[in-house]
Amino acid sequence: MKVRKAVIPVAGLGTRFLPATKAIPKEMLTIVDRPTIQYIVEEVVASGIDQIIFITSEGKSAIENHFDYNFHLDSVLREKKKIALGEELNNISNLIDIVSVRQKKPLGLGHAIWTARHVIGNEPFMVLLGDDLVISKTPCAKQLLNLFDDVGESIVAIQRVPSDETFQYGIVEGEENGRENTYKVTRMVEKPAPGTTDSDMAIIGRYILKPEIFDILDKTTPGHGGEIQLTDALLALTKKRAMYALEFDGTRYDAGDKMGYLKAILAYGLSHAEIGDSFKKYIKEIATTL
Ligand code: UTP
Repeated sequence: MKVRKAVIPVAGLGTRFLPATKAIPKEMLTIVDRPTIQYIVEEVVASGIDQIIFITSEGKSAIENHFDYNFHLDSVLREKKKIALGEELNNISNLIDIVSVRQKKPLGLGHAIWTARHVIGNEPFMVLLGDDLVISKTPCAKQLLNLFDDVGESIVAIQRVPSDETFQYGIVEGEENGRENTYKVTRMVEKPAPGTTDSDMAIIGRYILKPEIFDILDKTTPGHGGEIQLTDALLALTKKRAMYALEFDGTRYDAGDKMGYLKAILAYGLSHAEIGDSFKKYIKEIATTL
């Protein structure tokens, strides 16, 4: 069955980025000339998905507005003959069909995804975290979809992390299964205490999930941090069905973290069509003075 829908949970509080995120969703923080969330929506569009479901919460309406048609702004830009700019804004609202579902309480990522169950129904779907950016030749979401066409089971995207950082991630253990950069998952654990796993395969914010996950989430009790953890539900899913981990090709930036955000600005700035070259020149100049 084809994956047609992508869930993007954006209901988190963004405490790592306070005070910037007190009144502005972290997904709306700008990277060069567009908010973080727009890069993710563009990745979904480039991967051929038909519909996005945002999981939102109070204070996140700026995200919905960003992808909506702004009649007033469009009229003003037309009056001022700024036609190209008006068209660019309209293109954002025409990118893809988007619906929103509210997560009433921030009970965790697992709970956020469960909130989408009625909109998803009985079909496989993709999940992209609203602050995880990936720069890659083939969109990361597309890489997962290509593997799904082959295996037809749930998939998590992974990257290798240093062993002293594994406690910050959901970690998977798995065995090679003959496909390039692909592992069959044998175990997973959310934020493992140091020394409790030998694996360095960290789950990042891209998944394809089978709809059975909703029944499991229904029964998943709060785990690490008192939240309903997606990793706990994924582990339960591996006991019923096969699950694969894909070491994707590309570089991932955690734009919900200060350092990750700055690295993302550098990477997107350096490859930007309009300012990339002059930005590189500037970086070289200041690097000599550091
Ligand atoms: P994070 O772990 O980044 O949490 O959530 P957060 O609250 O957004 O940010 P910090 O850690 O306080 O700075 C991972 C993803 O899960 C979503 C977030 O929006 C983010 O995309 N999420 C998390 C929800 O949608 N609901 C929740 O209850 C928790």
